[in-house]
Amino acid sequence: MSPQGTNTDQTAATRFLEEYDGEASVMCNRFMEASWDFNTNVTDFNRRKMLAQQMQWAKFHREKWTEATSFAWKNFTNPTVRRMFSFLTVLGKVALPKAKMEEVRGEEREKKSKKEIQYEEEEKEGKIHT
Ligand SMILES: *[C@@H]1O[C@H](CO)[C@@H](O)[C@H](O)[C@H]1NC(C)=O
Ligand SMILES: *[C@@H]1O[C@H](CO)[C@@H](O)[C@H](O)[C@H]1NC(C)=O
Ligand SMILES: *[C@@H]1O[C@H](CO)[C@@H](O)[C@H](O)[C@H]1NC(C)=O
Repeated sequence: MSPQGTNTDQTAATRFLEEYDGEASVMCNRFMEASWDFNTNVTDFNRRKMLAQQMQWAKFHREKWTEATSFAWKNFTNPTVRRMFSFLTVLGKVALPKAKMEEVRGEEREKKSKKEIQYEEEEKEGKIHT
């Protein structure tokens, strides 16, 4: 489930984690921006931009997974480092931006329903004639 390799260098592993942190948040933000642009402005251009970011994220994740599983992380003494590796080496953790995307979709739905409610109220008050 969570494979490990033979690299026992815990200092290199800690450096890897630090780099991952910074890079992942940049990648994640780009993806979030692209999906936000598409969700609020549905054009072909924005759809392609979003899909491209999605692919970049998947590629990034695959590369980091390969690197993470080259370490003998289960043998590391630092429990914080071990916990982070156990998280990174599980397959199928690409779920992160997907969860964020659901969040964005939820917000969109909320905004839409607020607009609908407002419309219905105005209709009731006779402000809008249908
Ligand atoms: C990790 O620890 C296990 C059990 O203590 C040992 O058998 C294994 O050889 C170690 N792996 C590495 C890469 O040092
Ligand atoms: C919508 O996206 C297009 C690119 O496909 C861009 O040119 C345009 O300015 C955007 N419109 C708004 C309102 O942001
Ligand atoms: C374990 O690693 C974390 C993250 O690199 C670090 O902040 C912490 O001080 C380390 N703990 C120990 C006991 O070395």
